[in-house]
Amino acid sequence: MKPNMEYLPGYEELVVKRLPQMEPEQFQQWAVLLKNRTGMRLPDNRISFLVTNLGMRMRALGINNFQTYFDYVQNGREGAIEWDQLVHHLTVHETRFLRQESVLALICEKYLPLRHDECVASPVTINVWSVGCSTGEEPYSIAMAVDDHMRQLNCQYYLGVTASDISRSALAHGRKGIYTRQQIKAIEPEWLNNYFTVTEDDKFQINEELRKRVCFNHLNILDIGAAPIGKMDIIVCQNLLIYFDKEQRIDIANTLADHLQPGGLLILGVGELLNWEHPDVTRFTYANTLAFKRQQNILDGHDGLDA
Ligand SMILES: C[S@@+](CC[C@H](N)C(=O)[O-])C[C@H]1O[C@@H](n2cnc3c(N)ncnc32)[C@H](O)[C@@H]1O
Repeated sequence: MKPNMEYLPGYEELVVKRLPQMEPEQFQQWAVLLKNRTGMRLPDNRISFLVTNLGMRMRALGINNFQTYFDYVQNGREGAIEWDQLVHHLTVHETRFLRQESVLALICEKYLPLRHDECVASPVTINVWSVGCSTGEEPYSIAMAVDDHMRQLNCQYYLGVTASDISRSALAHGRKGIYTRQQIKAIEPEWLNNYFTVTEDDKFQINEELRKRVCFNHLNILDIGAAPIGKMDIIVCQNLLIYFDKEQRIDIANTLADHLQPGGLLILGVGELLNWEHPDVTRFTYANTLAFKRQQNILDGHDGLDA
């Protein structure tokens, strides 16, 4: 179905009609669609949030009927493109640089020193996966912390950070790596100097060398089992599982654990998964973190982390 062109911006008589009230059955219909497609739960008290965000997209398209828009997002290529836009509006992207300093400390103080010996013979490779990376602050924070630490240890290394999210707009922002003065305020001057370039309009862009190490890719975490992603040394998934129900959280955590290298670390948001157990991982206790390590292969050389 095509949007009603009469209401598209640029037409002389742009009519912004009030949206009709959303009926409980319509809310349920949207809640089920969102749950099936993104895993996100939409409690009944989120009806005004839903109406506001649907309304924004519907006005942009000149659609003033929830059912018409519901059908539109589920049909054809245009519907798929619109769905991507809508998902961006309905998901929470709150994030910031160095949001979880304890996680960076865990990586630098406990994990990286174990890899130090390896880099004596040849550069060590460190693969990190930031799942639900939003606009890039989390993966870039990890990349800066790892780079800074490995340089201090004088350790030759390759770093590859995979940064995944369901929102294409968030990913596009991350790829550009441009942030406002307000957004970089937590970063100390030395890191600003080492990892950012000031743009002409007084913003801060992650420098090319660091940007090249972070690869942003579109991934719906519900499809994680089929994701063409190899084994990772460190997987960070924070402030995402909270939007899923318990069974889904467990399924996702199991799949993430299966993507870990032996001796690797899985880091979840504190309190986001309770009483989870997986045969190949053990809890790794470190202040203000919820971390797990994958067991080392018996035939493997180094000892891995001691929990
Ligand atoms: C609150 S942000 C967390 C950002 C970052 N991890 C942090 O802790 O600062 C949650 C992110 O998860 C993404 N997200 C939500 N549902 C998703 C899904 N089904 N698959 C992948 N990403 C999803 C959102 O687009 C959003 O960018």
